[in-house]
Amino acid sequence: MPEASCQKQFIMTTRKILITGGAGFIGSHVVRLFVNNYPNYEIYNLDKLTYAGNLKNLTDIENAPNYHFVRLDLVDATAVNNLFNEHQFDSVIHLAAESHVDRSITNPMDFVMTNVVGTVNLLNAAKEIWKGNMEGKLFYHVSTDEVYGSLHDGGFFLESTSYDPQSPYSASKAASDHFVRAYHNTYKIPVVLTNCSNNYGPNQFPEKLVPLFINNIRNNKPLPVYGKGENVRDWLYVVDHARAIDVVYHKGKIGETYNIGGFNEWTNIDLIKVICKTMDKILGRHEGESEKLITYVTDRAGHDLRYAIDANKIMKELGWEPSLQFEEGIEKTINWYMDNQQWMDEVTSGDYAKYYDKMYASR
Ligand code: NAD
Ligand code: DAU
Repeated sequence: MPEASCQKQFIMTTRKILITGGAGFIGSHVVRLFVNNYPNYEIYNLDKLTYAGNLKNLTDIENAPNYHFVRLDLVDATAVNNLFNEHQFDSVIHLAAESHVDRSITNPMDFVMTNVVGTVNLLNAAKEIWKGNMEGKLFYHVSTDEVYGSLHDGGFFLESTSYDPQSPYSASKAASDHFVRAYHNTYKIPVVLTNCSNNYGPNQFPEKLVPLFINNIRNNKPLPVYGKGENVRDWLYVVDHARAIDVVYHKGKIGETYNIGGFNEWTNIDLIKVICKTMDKILGRHEGESEKLITYVTDRAGHDLRYAIDANKIMKELGWEPSLQFEEGIEKTINWYMDNQQWMDEVTSGDYAKYYDKMYASR
């Protein structure tokens, strides 16, 4: 790739950035960081506001002069093209996705539409607007470590690890990564990609392990551990992911991929016990009380055993490193959910109950 060594030249200039999925978990932290840290950048947050998108995640910055919200479905190619024509964005940070593995098992086509078709629609719109002048442009694609598949015999995922996606979710993310690289190779769109490990922190929708279990412990509900709880994930505090995206946006080399992770592996059961213990302390329960809620249930179909990121490239080449130790991050996270019970109650009202019954009744 000829542009691989190009250094981007736009630090501290004015930028017009389209961030997709900015009302979701990670996207809201990325939007906040860019709006606050770069007042000279115009930030456009494009989001369809699915069940996972919540503008309440952004109330602290919603009136900032450099922040704009656009409600739009990426699957609607005409609307995406019109938006690019109207605003002439010079860069895209693409986070919008269907992101939950369990939902991808019951509804794979939603993942094909948003994650694959939606990404190609964005790439096409950028290609049209940027053709003839790619200088200073950037398509930043945010992806996941799940595209590399499942580790069984030790080792880590490197940027050079072959793709081997195992779930409909990871297959759709892998397909989107391939399209981004293909558009770089074929149309010379300046791209950069990152593949990150599991995030935890404030504002995560409680279908994912950490907020789901915090909420269930608070409500004295069973904690549904899939299989034996032996699966391993590599956990990173969400703000550290947002900081990494900032670093890669400004300093990453065009055409390159960077893996992001915390070198912080936990089996699910050990992580769950840490959450239980911390919750006992915060809720003033006897030690061991919350652990009694642990209930082993039928495993996730095709459940990947272990993910583990080697984050040496971004650390050595771009100088990023996680800022929080896990023990500090998880306590901070639990405290956030305890202090924001209204946020949790709102997102778990309505359709959430139906989702929960459907997803867990048969396990
Ligand atoms: P999320 O589900 O919390 O948020 C996704 C956002 O995308 C929501 O606001 C939703 O409304 C929006 N969206 C969905 N479909 C859309 C569409 N068709 N058009 C426009 N907007 C749409 O997801 P997240 O956990 O914040 O993940 C964000 C990105 O980071 C995803 O691309 C995901 O694959 C990736 N990622 C997530 C993790 C993780 O641990 N959560 C780790 C690595 C990578
Ligand atoms: O690795 C990055 C990925 O991490 C992201 O790309 C995904 O968007 C994100 O959802 C996450 O995927 P996981 O499947 O690892 O996350 P989840 O929180 O769904 O599950 C974490 C682990 O906990 C996994 O091994 C399954 C298990 N689990 C999950 C739930 C929801 C349970 O045991 N019980 C549960 O109820």
